[in-house]
Amino acid sequence: MRKLILFCFGFVCWSMVQAATLTSPNGKLTLMVSVENGEPVYALKFQGKSVVNSSKLGLYLEQTTSLQSGFTVVKETYSEQDDIWHPVLGEVDSVRNHYRELSLDLLQTETQRTMRLIFRLFNDGLGFRYEFDKQPNLGYFRIADECTEFAMASNHTAFWIPGSFDTNEYFYTTSRLSDIDASKVDGSAIGTHGIVANNSVQTPVMMKTDDGLYLNIFEAALVDYAAMCLTIDKQTLVLKSLLAPSAVGTKVFMQTPCKTPWRTILVSDKAADILSSKTILNLNEPCKLATTDWIKPMKYVGIWWEMHVPNKSSWNYADEPNVKLKGMDWQALKPNGRHGATTENTKRYIDFAAQHGFDGVLVEGWNVGWEDWAGNWKEEVFDFVTPYPDFDVKEVTTYAASKGVKLIMHHETSSAVTNYERRMDDAFDFMKAHGYNAVKTGYVGKIIPRGELHDGQWMVNHYNRVITKAAERQIMVNAHEQVRPTGLSRTYPNLLACEAARGNEFNAWSVGNPPEHETILPFTRLLGGGMDYTPGIFELKMSHYQAGNTCQVHTTLAKQLALYVTMYSPLQMAADLPENYEKNLDAFQFIKDVDVDWSDTRILEAEPGDYITIARFGKQKKAWFIGSITDENSRVSEITFDFLAPNTKYVATIYADAVNADWKENPQAYTIRRVVVSSKSKLKQAVAKGGGYAIAIKKVTDKAELKGLKTL
Ligand code: NOJ
Ligand code: CA
Repeated sequence: MRKLILFCFGFVCWSMVQAATLTSPNGKLTLMVSVENGEPVYALKFQGKSVVNSSKLGLYLEQTTSLQSGFTVVKETYSEQDDIWHPVLGEVDSVRNHYRELSLDLLQTETQRTMRLIFRLFNDGLGFRYEFDKQPNLGYFRIADECTEFAMASNHTAFWIPGSFDTNEYFYTTSRLSDIDASKVDGSAIGTHGIVANNSVQTPVMMKTDDGLYLNIFEAALVDYAAMCLTIDKQTLVLKSLLAPSAVGTKVFMQTPCKTPWRTILVSDKAADILSSKTILNLNEPCKLATTDWIKPMKYVGIWWEMHVPNKSSWNYADEPNVKLKGMDWQALKPNGRHGATTENTKRYIDFAAQHGFDGVLVEGWNVGWEDWAGNWKEEVFDFVTPYPDFDVKEVTTYAASKGVKLIMHHETSSAVTNYERRMDDAFDFMKAHGYNAVKTGYVGKIIPRGELHDGQWMVNHYNRVITKAAERQIMVNAHEQVRPTGLSRTYPNLLACEAARGNEFNAWSVGNPPEHETILPFTRLLGGGMDYTPGIFELKMSHYQAGNTCQVHTTLAKQLALYVTMYSPLQMAADLPENYEKNLDAFQFIKDVDVDWSDTRILEAEPGDYITIARFGKQKKAWFIGSITDENSRVSEITFDFLAPNTKYVATIYADAVNADWKENPQAYTIRRVVVSSKSKLKQAVAKGGGYAIAIKKVTDKAELKGLKTL
């Protein structure tokens, strides 16, 4: 670790303005910070071009003088940090954390309170936060609003979802900043749909300028604070922080010493740099867990998709609209005959997982309470320890252990979070007693405590409590409907994945996810951490299950394979039903082969909303895999294999769209071909509308493997 104190810059002070400048290590980004008439402001430039025009900083407080004006600079400290750290699971095996820091101590003279602004300038962006020491005149305080601004230099193209504090499950709209109108977005399929303002968007928001700069505004290390959306002033193009309120309207309750999350702006003239940026992770604290050898990447199958597709299975055991946990005789309920989580069905999935080398099996609907779990804003929904009469937990866990497969626990809280808090210790102990080492949590519906929101400070603390409590018991977490992750998996690597976006499931029962959806998520939601997107659907049209049903997955089958590489997550599901894989075992081979934890990642092609091609080197398989996806337009992907070791031959198995494939009309048509490649090879691969391709690359160890194969 290296931290240098720099003295090369100084705060220039003249009349009512105090100003300082900081440049990124590569010199491309320049930050200007000043205190003008007592108000702190900042601005950011990329190679001389304005990225953020002069923008306000500060906090509006309840009941007392706001921390927004009346400041003078009392101290400035410059430093530089350049070190390398190694993620437990990740896209690369080592991360360089290189930034220049400016720390400004401000004094509000009238109140004699201090506030520190910390700016970290990386080669690909800026992070800044507010920090407060323990001090006589500032102990407890309540934030009414954060006045942090991001004044955009012109009317950029933005990839955005509506501002909401209860859900992220929207598809993206691409528009000019001045055309943002959240009221026009269809949120009808989302349980807790509710936009906060017509001119609001969520972070991360991705932007492209007319002169080819890629910008992204987000936050890092969201701890003990409310999540941040942004509002846009369509005249001035100023984006302003909008925090999720608590049940009583206050945004955040603070007590010194304390700090806010980092506010981040990623900037590059290459889209690929946004995808490979590690700035969000770098702004999070190093791993706090004493041991991490129990944290493993996971590929899993599960009793899940059969509940989402029409006419198949149910989570609930009985069809009974009104059940009470207390005093309920579950044995006496009349089974509906469609319950998915039976002992027998679970064993079938365990067999399938063992046969095909999967690590885990998720079982949803195993525990009592699903009869009236959603929509009633009910407190005592689940107890997380009582299985349904047809799910023998001892039998299935013993069976799974005998096959070397782990069961993944499911804790759907239905957002009755007080209930979960009361029962969490028992629930985790129950898991440990039965050999479960991973939990999928869920927060469908409106939050209890009533009035709290999914993205408010209270819930943020809850999610983080779940992660740390789980870590104490060496349990890995996959959190659905929780606040979007902000890089916390660096600090708590047992947070394997989150949902926090519109997943593949929407394709089963709604208008679905447009083909461009997966080309935007890596530029937005995935910057904060892995996503349990649940790819791998082979039976793409829901009419397969129900005549006349028009829902379908908006990709080709080949694109579903590519998602294992383009949609980073160390926890990946093979989401389709075993019987659908058994019909296409040749294509299924890619899902069996692909790694989910990587030591190297190369972004080969990228354009938000259009296409992404990524090559990654798997830690387990010690082999390269490539995934390439496109939006609703067909295209020809052109890549070189110069990341391969020189003078070495490999066999590449290419899983591609068939010539007549098309996400809408003919999604299941694919081809598989094998060719010899080396570091000199070049590939031109046609990609269908809504299509993609996936490649598994294996080093040749025996010349016989080359027989009959063409060289690329
Ligand atoms: C929504 C989750 O995203 C989904 O994966 C899960 O099956 C249902 N809730 C039920 O918990
Ligand atoms: Ca597009």
